[in-house]
Amino acid sequence: MIDALGRPQSALLLGGTSEIGLAIVTQLVGKGCGTVVLAGRDPERMAGPAAALRAAGAKTVEIVPFDAEAIDSHAAFAAETFDRFGDLDVVVVAAGILGNQATDEHDPVAAARVLTTNFTGMAAVSLAVADRLRRQGHGRLVVLSSVAGERARRANFVYGSSKAGLDAFAQGLDDSLAGSGVRVTIVRPGFVVGRMTSGMDPAPFATTPEEVATAVVRGIERGAAVVYVPPVLRWVFAVMRHLPRALWRRVPG
Ligand SMILES: NC(=O)c1ccc[n+]([C@@H]2O[C@H](COP(=O)([O-])OP(=O)(O)OC[C@H]3O[C@@H](n4cnc5c(N)ncnc54)[C@H](OP(=O)(O)O)[C@@H]3O)[C@@H](O)[C@H]2O)c1
Repeated sequence: MIDALGRPQSALLLGGTSEIGLAIVTQLVGKGCGTVVLAGRDPERMAGPAAALRAAGAKTVEIVPFDAEAIDSHAAFAAETFDRFGDLDVVVVAAGILGNQATDEHDPVAAARVLTTNFTGMAAVSLAVADRLRRQGHGRLVVLSSVAGERARRANFVYGSSKAGLDAFAQGLDDSLAGSGVRVTIVRPGFVVGRMTSGMDPAPFATTPEEVATAVVRGIERGAAVVYVPPVLRWVFAVMRHLPRALWRRVPG
């Protein structure tokens, strides 16, 4: 339950090894969040982050299995998690894969995997979690979208369209939750230097997981519906969205 100062006391991270997600929950722990649930595919790879969160001051850190692609299990996952841990103040929806556009656009199965993980999986689990948040009467769903979803690029349209779908879904979900005590914060980072982008040349306005986390935690505190990281990308994409197609399709990877 959120404390008297409005600070979250418990958080669930979907994508329990996500660098951005872990940076967010670490900052929440620094502000007094005592319970963190890491949900992901590989318990062994979540053990190190769990220990780090305990060292940072979390009283309870638990690891639970979660696979974005196992859509049939999402309702049961949400029910079991909320039944076991009680109120969850913040749920961070961070699981995602970048894929490889060059090969994915010729491989329907690989492309569908990106779409299933990033869009269908995250949308379905968000619904399952939102129902439980609605029932508890408060909470914030933090959805990791991307500026890549603002307008799909020739060089990144499989991933970009998955984020466009998730972003639109999260906006609609937030509207549907109005008045329930539950709100959605959509996060639209640009290029984040880290595991997902390793080996790639940083794009302009590149940022870090810690900078994203700082912006997200501030966004949660002020009840923001959308957070761009860095903030200048809001204005960059306000222009980019209206570039003529002939120009837009030449924007490099
Ligand atoms: N990095 C960027 O430049 C950037 C920019 C904008 C938005 N984002 C978005 O921010 C989110 C977090 O990204 P990140 O930088 O933290 O990436 P990351 O460190 O690579 O984390 C991705 C997370 O997704 C999990 N995941 C992938 N497929 C899954 C599945 N089928 N089931 C459950 N979990 C799955 C991974 O788990 P495993 O350990 O099991 O693989 C990992 O926990 C993603 O949604 C990403 O699209 C990232």
